[in-house]
Amino acid sequence: MRDYAPTATTPDPGNPLVLHVLGARPNFVKAAPVVRALTGLGVRQGIVHTGQHYDALMSDVFFSDLGLPEPIANLGVGSGSHARQTAALLTGLEDVVLTHRPALVVVYGDVNSTLAAILVCAKLHVPTAHVEAGLRSFDREMPEEVNRIVTDALSDILLATSPDALSYLAREGVDPSRVHLVGNPMIDSLFSALDRLDPAAPRSRFGLPERYGVATLHRPANVDDPASAKELVDAVIEVSRRLPLVVPIHPRGRERLAEAGLVTGDGLLVVDPLGYVDFLSLVRGAALVVTDSGGVQEETTMLGVPCLTVRPNTERPITVTHGTNRLVTPAGLPAAADRALAEGASTPSGELPPLWDGQAGPRIARVIAAWLQGGNLSPAGQTVPPKSL
Ligand code: UD1
Ligand code: UDP
Repeated sequence: MRDYAPTATTPDPGNPLVLHVLGARPNFVKAAPVVRALTGLGVRQGIVHTGQHYDALMSDVFFSDLGLPEPIANLGVGSGSHARQTAALLTGLEDVVLTHRPALVVVYGDVNSTLAAILVCAKLHVPTAHVEAGLRSFDREMPEEVNRIVTDALSDILLATSPDALSYLAREGVDPSRVHLVGNPMIDSLFSALDRLDPAAPRSRFGLPERYGVATLHRPANVDDPASAKELVDAVIEVSRRLPLVVPIHPRGRERLAEAGLVTGDGLLVVDPLGYVDFLSLVRGAALVVTDSGGVQEETTMLGVPCLTVRPNTERPITVTHGTNRLVTPAGLPAAADRALAEGASTPSGELPPLWDGQAGPRIARVIAAWLQGGNLSPAGQTVPPKSL
């Protein structure tokens, strides 16, 4: 992704500007349907890429696979400790917001770019909308949980992907008139890509048999500490003795997991991160997914692929109650894999999560467009025109 300094857009009160702040891989997937739907409503927009993720396979490939427009600015903040990365995000985003003077800033998910954008906008009195509001793992050791709580406390418009979010936000004192249950834009992106998801392509590229599994691991709690990484890798290797596993490796855990023994060998293929279409093609054809990703828990639910999430908790419990996801410990992973392979995918409720229907982007766009026009908003993102219309 190129670096370029922000060039000012012309403030135009009759044609307000919406800025989307994106920085990390999952942000791109969530934003694409919102940007598309706002374009359909004629809303003036720009993407600011913070550069939190910068490798071509963590960033550029998502812009092309998802049809996202070029960013109007790339801050190139790169990697660092939480404090250093967030500090760079704060100063970079403050300049961007002062330069472009947006009417609304839209932020996504729970990454450090999201947190920084919300803080900058709150201090500059620029209104904000948070897509994926109200998810809670109730585990403050996760950096994302801290980011979620702060982001929701400071957002003006809260766009929730699942009903459980509504009660968490209410419990935290958020005014319900600011909250809209809109569905999950990550699933809109999945639906848009569905015709391009062909498991045969990655299967032949990686020389895989008909029956294989996929694993992704990048949570700090799993990959940063050598002892935890070793316990996890041992369990993953055990699974690979039952089912060949492809592991597209997130750069965060590459070295530590390799040191712990996660290297290509019998039944295990460790590869670079995959582009969005390649990754979901692989997942679509998989007999089993092992992960600690947030988005992958949701995508496997919709694709009906058994998913074992190696975490003590999830901020997405709907993927367990309405999907194929099960939480497991590293020690319990091999036996859980045996069970999942024997039983296949099953969803306890027999129903998919409500409003995960590919229409979240249009719902979000309607909420935003009505807000820009000064209209009132009812719950569920239905717009109510202002009285004067
Ligand atoms: C971030 C998010 C996490 C999200 C994940 C999605 C935060 C606090 N965490 O975690 O919630 O699940 O993105 O993938 O925002 N790196 C590269 N190339 C890149 C990007 C990162 O090599 O393009 C390496 C660097 O060594 C870096 C490390 O990955 O230090 C971690 O990157 P960072 O963005 O800080 O956090 P993630 O672990 O990616
Ligand atoms: N993803 C991808 N290639 C990969 C791994 C993941 O395209 O090699 C996609 C995945 O489909 C999902 C998104 O990246 O849409 C999730 O990103 P990640 O797991 O990094 O973040 P999280 O959802 O945990 O925040």
